[in-house]
Amino acid sequence: MTFRNISKEALAGSITLGVIFIAGYVFGKKKSSRMSIIKSHCGDDPLMQYVLNHSMREHPVLKELRLRTMEHSWNIMMVACEQSQFMANLAKLIKTKKALEIGVYTGYNTLSMALALPDDGVVVACDITDDYPNIGKPFWKEAGVEKKIDLRIQPALKTLDDLLAAGEAETFDFAFIDADKVNYDNYFEKCLQLLRKGGVIAIDNVLWGGQVVNPSPDDPDTVAIDKLNKKLHRDVRINLSMLTVGDGLTLAIKL
Ligand SMILES: C[S@@+](CC[C@H](N)C(=O)[O-])C[C@H]1O[C@@H](n2cnc3c(N)ncnc32)[C@H](O)[C@@H]1O
Ligand SMILES: *[C@@H]1O[C@H](CO)[C@@H](O)[C@H](O)[C@H]1NC(C)=O
Ligand SMILES: *[C@@H]1O[C@H](CO)[C@@H](O)[C@H](O)[C@H]1NC(C)=O
Repeated sequence: MTFRNISKEALAGSITLGVIFIAGYVFGKKKSSRMSIIKSHCGDDPLMQYVLNHSMREHPVLKELRLRTMEHSWNIMMVACEQSQFMANLAKLIKTKKALEIGVYTGYNTLSMALALPDDGVVVACDITDDYPNIGKPFWKEAGVEKKIDLRIQPALKTLDDLLAAGEAETFDFAFIDADKVNYDNYFEKCLQLLRKGGVIAIDNVLWGGQVVNPSPDDPDTVAIDKLNKKLHRDVRINLSMLTVGDGLTLAIKL
């Protein structure tokens, strides 16, 4: 994916979000239907504020990185801090030592995951450009976990293939899929091979701003996400949950 595509995706996301926010504001009270992205850093909802006030235990360096990322143009791409904390808790619960981050951006979730891992743990962090991860690197170092982060700058599919070729199938505990949407199914299939039984794949943006309810056939991202959602629902290799946190998060547990 080129920088132009990333920008287009982020821009489309911003515009969609804007439209949804306005629509939600106008119709929300009457219909009370929820069709919008609920990320703590997109909008200011008092209930979300309450959730943050009563649950966040953000590491001070994570907070610094979050505030730094808020200065960046595409911060809509950042994982929501409350979602990241949830995934870190979940990763610990299943005793994660090896994790995959597919789509790093400024590395908020990469850092959160690295902090959750034991000293001999590793996050293989995949991005196609180091422009954004370079923003996060000093924070990884400041938090003292940079040695747990194995950043690989090339198409994520190539990195997953490299790991499989290196004999690392069935050795990962946790994967977070959060890069280009048209490759989501490919990422899912490779991650499933790389995960041990009982490992968890977390797939972000599965509701895609509500567009999955009425997918436009001209929008390859929505079509890809909807198709994967339907496939996962019938996939006997996993158990699953679809959570309405953030922009929608599916958890797939490898059986
Ligand atoms: C939604 S952001 C990731 C957010 C991140 N998980 C976080 O914690 O904030 C998506 C990222 O995927 C990267 N990306 C897009 N296409 C990719 C590809 N084919 N391979 C690897 N990374 C890709 C983009 O450069 C961008 O940094
Ligand atoms: C959240 O905490 C902030 C700072 O302490 C406070 O100003 C705000 O009123 C709180 N909001 C809610 C809904 O708890
Ligand atoms: C998967 O789901 C089935 C049916 O809901 C359940 O019986 C089984 O225990 C689950 N397996 C795991 C590993 O959670």
